[in-house]
Amino acid sequence: MNTLAIEATQRDPLSVSCDLLVVDWVQGAKRPLGAALILDKALDGALTQLIESRAFQGKLGERLVFPTFGKLKARHIAVIGVGKKESVDADALRRLGGFVVRTAREHKASSIVIAPSSVMSDKLDARTATQALVEGTRLSAYHFHAFKGLQHKKEDPTHQLKRLQVIASDGRMLKAMQEGIERGQILAEATILARDLVNTPSSDMTPQQLADQAMKLAVKGSGITCKVLDQKTMERLGMRAALAVARGSMHPPVGVHLIYRPKQSKKSIAVVGKAVTFDSGGLSIKPADGMMTMKIDMAGAAAVVGLFKALAVLKPNVTVHGIFLAVENMPSGSAYRPGDIVAAMDGTTIEVLNTDAEGRVTLADALTYATQQKPDLIVDLATLTGACVSALGEDIAGLFSNNEGLSQRLLTASVETGESLWRLPLHKPYIPQIRSKIADIKNIGTGGSGGGAITAALFLHTFVNDIPWAHLDIAGPSYAERETRPDQPYGASGYGVRLLMRFVQALGK
Ligand code: BES
Ligand code: ZN
Ligand code: ZN
Repeated sequence: MNTLAIEATQRDPLSVSCDLLVVDWVQGAKRPLGAALILDKALDGALTQLIESRAFQGKLGERLVFPTFGKLKARHIAVIGVGKKESVDADALRRLGGFVVRTAREHKASSIVIAPSSVMSDKLDARTATQALVEGTRLSAYHFHAFKGLQHKKEDPTHQLKRLQVIASDGRMLKAMQEGIERGQILAEATILARDLVNTPSSDMTPQQLADQAMKLAVKGSGITCKVLDQKTMERLGMRAALAVARGSMHPPVGVHLIYRPKQSKKSIAVVGKAVTFDSGGLSIKPADGMMTMKIDMAGAAAVVGLFKALAVLKPNVTVHGIFLAVENMPSGSAYRPGDIVAAMDGTTIEVLNTDAEGRVTLADALTYATQQKPDLIVDLATLTGACVSALGEDIAGLFSNNEGLSQRLLTASVETGESLWRLPLHKPYIPQIRSKIADIKNIGTGGSGGGAITAALFLHTFVNDIPWAHLDIAGPSYAERETRPDQPYGASGYGVRLLMRFVQALGK
């Protein structure tokens, strides 16, 4: 639950009572600037002295925290480095937000005032900077405690961050900051929704429960409608591939088609998410270690749901279809088997050689359904392959696309939102690795070594025909076993929500 109130104010930083007053420091600055200068004066030059004596440089995340002993209204002051001036971008500010939260936690501060002194420049306007700062703060302060029990409540008197104020130096900046705060909060909340869905254990996030979460967004005034495809409808539509994957589970599959349709629409896009609520591997069962985190296998769909939460408020001029076919991949007497051949919705026959390569089998039908909506372009997000994690590690998603312009736009959005993305090739010479002797296509690549993320992408490519399409393999960055950056605590990341929103907004301009 969000109990953190964030606001911009034009007050004098010295007159605001708070637990922690934060000023930023650009690396290499010789003298305090802006708010830092005001503070330094109020403390008779103590700030400058401290910075000199501690050899504080202002590297990104470097921190100097000291008590004010009642000399100021703030209980503590933190000087936090933002790095060299030329490298201060939105992502640095997002990280700064993370360091602010970390400092607050260490000093049990529940009210914070940030007095930005020098980070806002021509390159980084006050709105963008404040938006990034707010995103970083909200996303770092996130905890998933829905399942913490009584014991936790007894033991853990965790301090709560309650209030954050950002100081503006004039009226124009105040307005820009207010806009930044609003956007930052909307995007952080949408990301947090995706995180919550992914963090929820599979027993409480069945295909139906995931669909229910999407349905909740289709309320009056949102511009969103939601069609739910129950098992019967999926059968009628011929989604035999997705149905095959679902067959081993006691939970029936559920398809979801969200539509955001603004009055004026420049373009239309379909966003498709992998929605395997639990991936045991099926009969090609995973080893215990590999299964431990497989509740996250619906992170693509969670990003779609998060995106729609933001669309409803930010209302870009683009029609967006959000599509996912939610299934659970389980072994049982009714499960699909290695060697089975299933005919996908578009008629392509798939030889299933490994039931653990289930994502692409469900996406085959989801992508066919997406192409039938005749969008200008399709983007899918899927926790698709361990191979992509081997190639790019846990921070970076893989991008595959049949379209240069689309790739560039996604890469640009990713730089702006700090969600790392790297293009990998749709290498055609590997197509024979997924050709089947007895069906049209196989669901795993054989006869080569490595390149598993590529053959998976080539498989998906079969189902989008010539529509400009991009596939994001998010197996790495959707979940973090440990904090990877200050605004990415343990657990689900909500990867893709802000990236997609940024991309859609640029498309509508
Ligand atoms: N859901 C997994 C991929 C995955 C792995 C996601 C690690 C997140 C973290 C996917 O369904 C899978 O099992 N892929 C197999 C494919 C293989 C059988 C061709 C894999 O990557 O091993
Ligand atoms: Zn799998
Ligand atoms: Zn999977």
